[in-house]
Amino acid sequence: MAWDRIRKTPQDRAGACLDDYDGCVTSFSWTQARALLDGLPKDGLNISYEAVDRHVRAGRGGKLALRWIGRDDEIRDFSYADLAAQTNRFANVLKRFGVSKGDRVYSLLGRSPELYVAALGALKNGSVFSPLFSAFGPEPIKARMAIGGARVLITSEAFYLRKVEPWRRELDSLEVVLLTECSANPPAGTEDLGAAMAAASDAFETVWTAPEDMALLHFTSGTTGRPKGAVHVHDAVVAHHVTGRYALDLHADDIFWCTADPGWITGTSYGIVSPLTNAATMIVDQAEFDAERWYRILQDQKVTVWYTAPTAIRMLMKLGADIPKRFDLSSLRLIASVGEPLNPEGVAWGMEAFGKPIHDNWWQTETGGIMISNFRSMDVKPGSMGRPLPGITAGIVERRNGEICEITKPMAMGELALRPGWPSMMRAYLHEEERYRKCFAGGWYLTGDLAMRDGEGYYWFVGRSDDVIKSAGHLIGPFEVESALMEHPAVAEVGVIGLPDPAAGEMVKAYVALKSGIEASEALRKELLGHARKRLGPAVAPKDIAFRQNLPKTRSGKIMRRLLKARELGLPEGDISTLESEER
Ligand code: WT7
Repeated sequence: MAWDRIRKTPQDRAGACLDDYDGCVTSFSWTQARALLDGLPKDGLNISYEAVDRHVRAGRGGKLALRWIGRDDEIRDFSYADLAAQTNRFANVLKRFGVSKGDRVYSLLGRSPELYVAALGALKNGSVFSPLFSAFGPEPIKARMAIGGARVLITSEAFYLRKVEPWRRELDSLEVVLLTECSANPPAGTEDLGAAMAAASDAFETVWTAPEDMALLHFTSGTTGRPKGAVHVHDAVVAHHVTGRYALDLHADDIFWCTADPGWITGTSYGIVSPLTNAATMIVDQAEFDAERWYRILQDQKVTVWYTAPTAIRMLMKLGADIPKRFDLSSLRLIASVGEPLNPEGVAWGMEAFGKPIHDNWWQTETGGIMISNFRSMDVKPGSMGRPLPGITAGIVERRNGEICEITKPMAMGELALRPGWPSMMRAYLHEEERYRKCFAGGWYLTGDLAMRDGEGYYWFVGRSDDVIKSAGHLIGPFEVESALMEHPAVAEVGVIGLPDPAAGEMVKAYVALKSGIEASEALRKELLGHARKRLGPAVAPKDIAFRQNLPKTRSGKIMRRLLKARELGLPEGDISTLESEER
């Protein structure tokens, strides 16, 4: 059944954190939002304090903060008091190694309890935390640790040996490596995290941090160049907190499951910080996606708010709406999705499978938190991302004669832009002043996404304005993939694009021109796929490679990815006036 609007009843609105959108937008101020948190003496603010210790101080220490479900179904529970004690221990471990305020602490871990303890413990120590996705291969890891000047790395012994040790000598800044799942004799230059934790005290005073002190470093990808380190400060917690309330309707008695991995910003902002500042109970599943398992978790853990992604929804859809009906999912109050377009079919499927719409929302690594959302109290228009959060001014803009102009005509396409000034906005791309500055013009932050706004103020996603690829919800920079393939001795040129894929949204495909005298063959194709996978890891590596004699290039020698894509998909080639003549 198709829906053009899913109406919300007074019942749907009852008890919603945001029950009156227009009223809330009018009365909202970031100053008031900040007052919902405790802060530290002398106008200080620390994310970890607000997420954990604040609740212990207020007598809520016994409350379940984190329920961790292991791959083998083992359950480990952490109350707020347990989390406080564990993060204190971790902060003491850092202190013992002389790691202090501003130092960069990286993690390369699956969704293990240590990841959550390390994130919050590092912040408590005033250090900057940067989580890396565990499916990255050595190249993306090395690039990100080098850019951020990693001083500490928390990882497993297996990851260390495979993904870090081979190049460690090249990164002078890396002084401390703490290992989980560590053998009796840790490799040279590493320490057993478990032993260090056991030896540490569980008392620690949160290091004083100012709201503008750097807290989190999340990497994102552009079309060209190295990954960009988006710098977020402790003040971001104000946005994490209120957007969790407004967009995800988080209440203190909620059981919240964010399925994103903390290696990506959704898994940190909403998979760690937001549920904890809101004193909810969060579920963490160590295992990878599995439809039956997910329904079972929703049922057994009595999840009330579920934050997931279109990729997962598509996979669930593929298996049909009968399976969820075999489970008791009556605890579910709100389902939300983020990361890629959620098409109207996905929303309709939510109605069929759960009797509830899936609430799409939109944001980016740069924005640090949800900016546009469908709210529990508001009608859902399937296919729309919803409306701007209170405190957020969005617009559709275009460049006219070099000036940025707002387009107010309903459903006219332009670039989605936001008025800067909310607390979780990135403060910099680390060491990339110029790239950061280019994101702003005419008093707007330009998102790089194309969108439209309808007469009721709902936003509709159209596409990206650049060549960046979104695969399984993960942003992949084509340049990073091209660079890894270029390292192979047989390769002369590479262009990497995303092609539509029914499951992943987009699939990474590489077009390779070989050096003269080298024959294209199936064996070489496999070798290149293997090479890329080894260097980049399965999350980033191309799924397919095609050989070409030549790649379409501009006269200045830049590979025209857009044209590769148009040709592959049989679409109009658009403006090819800059194409090199012999290629036409
Ligand atoms: C890009 C940001 C999702 C936040 C954390 C990951 C795309 C995001 C939607 C949506 C269509 C979406 C945009 C955006 N995107 N949400 N609801 N509908 N597209 O952030 O990895 O920095 O990716 O994801 O293109 O710019 P990210």
